[in-house]
Parts: sequence; C-alpha cells; structure tokens
Amino acid sequence: MMILKMNKIEKNFGSTFVLKDFSLKVNKEEILCIIGPSGCGKSTILNIISGYLLPSRGEVINKSKSISYVFQEDRLLPWKTVYENIRIVNKKVSKDEIKALIEKVGLTGFENHYPLELSGGMRQRCSIARAFNYEADLLLMDEPFKSLDYNLRFHMIDQLIKLWEMKQNSIIFVTHEIDEALLLGDRIIVLSDKPTKVIAEFEIKISKRKRSLKDKILIKIRNNIVDYLIR
Ligand SMILES: Nc1ncnc2c1ncn2[C@@H]1O[C@H](COP(=O)(O)OP(=O)(O)OP(=O)(O)O)[C@@H](O)[C@H]1O
Ligand SMILES: [Mg+2]
Repeated sequence: MMILKMNKIEKNFGSTFVLKDFSLKVNKEEILCIIGPSGCGKSTILNIISGYLLPSRGEVINKSKSISYVFQEDRLLPWKTVYENIRIVNKKVSKDEIKALIEKVGLTGFENHYPLELSGGMRQRCSIARAFNYEADLLLMDEPFKSLDYNLRFHMIDQLIKLWEMKQNSIIFVTHEIDEALLLGDRIIVLSDKPTKVIAEFEIKISKRKRSLKDKILIKIRNNIVDYLIR
C-alpha cells in the first residue's frame, strides 16, 4: 500500500534541470532511505513532497493525512526555548510527554535554553523532537543526524526505530551516511547526479532491531552502494 507517489516529476531552476522524469514510491509503514551525491536534488525532492516547491511537470499523489519535516538546517524559533519550540507544533500533549521526548533526544536540563545557547547538534536534536511531537503519518527527514557524534548518532537511530515501531508511520530519510541507511531502511535508493535518476534500489528484510553493521548481508549492500556512489 503506497502512501506517496511521485510520477515523472520535472523540476528546473532556470536552466538547471534537477529532476527530469523522476519517479518514486513510498509505502505505508516503511522507512525509505535516500542516498545521493551532494546537489543531486534530495532536498528538492522533499521540498516538492512537502508542497514547499512546485514541480514544473509531473504529479505527486499524496495519500498521507499530514507531513512532518525535519529540515536540513534546523528551523527553530530563536525567541522560544527548547520546551516551547517542541510544544508549539502540538499543544495537546502533556508537559510530561514533552519532557519524555526531550529526554529521548538527550536534552534534559536544557528545556529552558534558547536555540542560540545550544550547539549545532543540540539544535538539530531539538528539531527532531519537534518533528516527533507533531502527529504525522509521513515524516520527512533531511540528514537529521549530520551534526552528531558517533555515539549520539547511534542513540538517535535507536530512538527513531523505537518511535517508528510505536507510530508505524512512513519515513523518508535522506542521508550521506550509508550505515544510517543500512540500520534504518526497509528500502534504500541511490540517486545519480543531475538530472537525477534512481540508479539502484536495495530492500532489507531483516528486522530493524536485529540489524548489525557486521552482518554479511549489510556489508554486501554497503559495498554495492559504495560502487554506485564512487565512479
Ligand atoms: N531555490 C533554488 N534556486 C536555484 N537553484 C536551486 C534552488 N534550490 C536548489 N537549487 C539547485 O538544485 C540542485 C539540487 O539542490 P538540493 O538542495 O536539492 O541538493 P541536495 O541533493 O539536497 O544536496 P546536499 O546533499 O548537498 O544537501 C543544486 O544544484 C542547487 O544548486
Ligand atoms: Mg540537501
């Protein structure tokens, strides 16, 4: 069952054609990871899905009820605290639930800090908590863990898997880190450079909880992806 489909999308900025005849399908309850060279159009794809950008041709069939978006750069409100930034997207949740979210992303003790008083990675985690707080059946994440150290990155991957198990939503996860895609993805697609095409697709059927980066199947997929990326 699909939740979203991009059909023969074209998108140009002036004479630069980022997408030409680009198609993509996202299924219900799946995590789709997207890997591709810098500048190939990954953020553009998410911006089109979210409705922030219009394609010049083609159609987007969107069956989701609502979309939550973790942007490539955190877009927190500088005049609001961590707590307020997270609460603002969904005021129905209790104080305790927000505190629990803040703990999940490792920001306990910083509830009353303003974005400017946080490090880049802390701001990024705050925007992830904000996206988690917004009830959406489709979650778009654009390199959400990029400014995190190795430990935090794996902690956040764990938290995201737990959250996904609870909510069973669909997630489109853009990353440059193959390991993140290997641990999170039900499917991984690799994109070419502009005009962007899907050049490879991998399906991983191992349960997300049971995956190890030392697993032979995952190592094989990683090597394959590297071959597609380095040419
Ligand atoms: N508003 C815009 N005006 C003009 N060109 C743009 C605009 N937005 C994106 N582009 C161009 O479109 C191409 C794709 O950009 P996009 O941000 O989608 O890449 P990306 O795959 O997300 O890259 P990265 O991995 O570095 O984040 C780039 O060549 C970029 O210069
Ligand atoms: Mg981008």
